[in-house]
Amino acid sequence: MNGSRKPIRRILTGVRPTGKLHLGHYVGALKMWVDLQEEDYDCFFLLADVQALTTHAENPSLIEAAVREVTLDWLGVGLDPHRSNVHFVVQSWVRELPELYTYLSMVAPFSDVRRNPTLKEEMAAIEKKTVSLSEASKTTLGFIDYPVSQVADIELFTPPAPHQKGDALLVPVGEDQVPHIELTNRTVRNFNRTYNEVFLEASARVGEVPRLVGTDGQAKMSKSLGNVIQLADPEEVVTKKVGQMFTDPRKLRQGDPGRPDICPVYTYHQAFGSESNLLGSRDLQARAEACRQGELGCVECKKELAVALNNLLDPIRDRRAKAEKMALRKILEEGTARSREIGVQTLSAVRQAMHLGYPQIH
Ligand code: TRP
Repeated sequence: MNGSRKPIRRILTGVRPTGKLHLGHYVGALKMWVDLQEEDYDCFFLLADVQALTTHAENPSLIEAAVREVTLDWLGVGLDPHRSNVHFVVQSWVRELPELYTYLSMVAPFSDVRRNPTLKEEMAAIEKKTVSLSEASKTTLGFIDYPVSQVADIELFTPPAPHQKGDALLVPVGEDQVPHIELTNRTVRNFNRTYNEVFLEASARVGEVPRLVGTDGQAKMSKSLGNVIQLADPEEVVTKKVGQMFTDPRKLRQGDPGRPDICPVYTYHQAFGSESNLLGSRDLQARAEACRQGELGCVECKKELAVALNNLLDPIRDRRAKAEKMALRKILEEGTARSREIGVQTLSAVRQAMHLGYPQIH
């Protein structure tokens, strides 16, 4: 084996574009992506529009709008495709992906997909109609199989074999995506065992706050639950949403002792406090204590949260407004073109390993 090339360190991650992104995306993943682009990784950020089709096939215009909004959100948080190591990629434009997906599906363990907890949760939501699908739409075959297509999304970017010390394929994601990365690695092991060592296993990295509660205290901030604060929400909207947030139901009056540990407002102070210098005069400990003692009322505590969030969001709003005037299409085309170059190479290695050139036939 020639061990002469430099290590290749790549990041592949993505979002299903079905609407604007929210604070849960920010602390769960985006903030980490922004930090990682500063390290020496080649970063591919995927607008997973084909995956969005698995639930929104009847609504192409929604997906188009969402591709644009997510691109703006990404530029807003500070992802920078003008750096040479940062690429925004449109999934449906990468023609190599469906081909790789087909081959990988032959070695992807079906039992894994069936047991996949994230898929199960999403299917339950569709069946309970907490996810808004049109009447015609039931769970589709494409939807059941999306974890396998996600394996292809990730492994298209495998550093080429033979792998060297220091090669890496990092997938920074929210906690709910971890089962898909486990599936990726079982599929990779099956492939490499069956054919040759083509694929490198992927490593998951989960953001600071794996799952942010909704403004209503439900386990998850989610557009379909209507409990989100979007990155693009204007200042007044954020202040209003924070004002309506759920708090400890037993703390009815300002002087009542509160339980910060069960209060979503306190959870947000924990999640976002470090982001802002303007938290009033309170650090987290002091805030929790003042709440427990009944010295801090919810109205005031919420006002301080709204200020902290608006401070965090202000620069994001500014960058997003500038991005509205940028040539977005060019950014997407360039990022996609780079990922296709890599994809062609990966597929060539895969076809060779799977023997699809049929060298015996003359
Ligand atoms: N499943 C992710 C989401 O729901 C989107 C996604 C598609 C993805 N392909 C990926 C994430 C590959 C990480 C890696 O937002």
